[in-house]
Amino acid sequence: MKNAVSWALVLFLTITLLNNCLQTKTYKEIREKQSFVDQLRLAYSSGDLTKWPKPILDPSKPLFSEIGYLPKVIFPADNPYSEDRASLGRTLFYDPRLSNSNQIACASCHDPELGWTDNRKFSFGHDRQLGSRNAMTIMNSAFATSLFWDGRAATLEDQAKMPIEDSREMHEHIDIATEKIVKVKGYEMLFEKAFGDKKITKDRIAKAIATFERTVISPASKFDRFIDGDKDAFTDYEVMGLHLFRTKAQCMNCHNSGYFSNNQFENDATSLLSSDEEDLGQYLITKKTADVGKFRVPSLREVAKTGPWMHNGSFNTLTEVIEFYSKGNPESSKNRSTIHEGAVLNSEKSHLLKLLDLTKEEIAQLEAFLGTLSTPTTRPVPPKMPK
Ligand code: HEC
Ligand code: HEC
Repeated sequence: MKNAVSWALVLFLTITLLNNCLQTKTYKEIREKQSFVDQLRLAYSSGDLTKWPKPILDPSKPLFSEIGYLPKVIFPADNPYSEDRASLGRTLFYDPRLSNSNQIACASCHDPELGWTDNRKFSFGHDRQLGSRNAMTIMNSAFATSLFWDGRAATLEDQAKMPIEDSREMHEHIDIATEKIVKVKGYEMLFEKAFGDKKITKDRIAKAIATFERTVISPASKFDRFIDGDKDAFTDYEVMGLHLFRTKAQCMNCHNSGYFSNNQFENDATSLLSSDEEDLGQYLITKKTADVGKFRVPSLREVAKTGPWMHNGSFNTLTEVIEFYSKGNPESSKNRSTIHEGAVLNSEKSHLLKLLDLTKEEIAQLEAFLGTLSTPTTRPVPPKMPK
């Protein structure tokens, strides 16, 4: 009996000792983790980029510039900014008379209350026809060096005429759309103020809309405030997410600069060749086989507001997007090739995408960081339509 009691005592003491050791170890780990986050917080919010940890970039040296604030917008020499021109552009952006049905405006699919998108997988336009790509936000498009998912428009001026003529969008001949605006008496004065005389042309319509779009820029986000020195603006998760974005997760190889895009075209393994949703991307414009399945690297500013995500709106949550990257962007072999106009075409995933094997916590941290790039939604009163 005595023996049994002493054995129980020894056992109890050993367990307590082990438990204590383990606890000290976990406390130590927690303390180390915390001091790592604190160091990162100080470096990233120092207001001094030279104090930031080095980013992890691919050895192939992709086009890179450090993330940070958005630069100032540059207005082109042949379409300079004026308040009147931007205001006319805003009115035209909301004017459904540019469409064949007189019912669809640019703002129908680019709604400021929905992050200047429509938050749908695919937009519907003329006669409620569905398009085949997800509507992009026009926010910060001033910083895009080509427009659309496949880059088929070189400037915002060129771009503005395209949705008017697109049969699935506004379905109107640009000359007829212009004629309709010419007939609206109330526009004369607005064009005179914006361009110096009353002449209304399709080019002036496009110029005014482009000028307006260049004014739709994100104000300072939580991220901008944090790197500007507001060190408590970020939670620990957001700090870790920012660090992962620049290092282990290697998002920076493509989503970089203040615009969070290097404006390049990359194959993200999303072209779904040989399926109903096949999209050859940039190939459709350049006809180069190397461009099959490439899409423009989109900006991640305001990204939390612009879902569903990717050119085909195929991801409903940002968690799913990050999980996809974590797995190294798997692409089923049956979706990697197709026959298009008699030619066999193959999709080749970018070498910049690798298996990341992020933990659940890291995925949540990245998502938390992406959230800091969005700014509060504004609900501006739409302009009065001229009569
Ligand atoms: C029926 C919905 C719809 C309408 C109406 C519409 N858009 Fe779009 N917009 C889209 C879709 C979808 C895309 C992406 C299409 C693609 O990449 O092929 C897009 C892309 C854009 C882009 C490219 C942004 C970027 O970062 O590349 C701009 C700018 C734009 N639209 C401006 C306009 C303007 C200006 C008008 C009015 C003249 C307009 N849109 C009318 C749906 C629409
Ligand atoms: C090889 C270049 C590349 C890398 C690396 C990369 N992306 Fe992307 N990203 C793209 C391209 C290209 C698209 C558009 C693909 C499409 O539309 O099908 C995209 C789309 C996205 C979108 C959807 C945006 C939208 O408006 O629909 C998110 C979110 C995103 N990336 C986040 C990330 C994160 C987070 C990482 C790091 C884990 C990352 N990306 C790494 C090229 C890249």
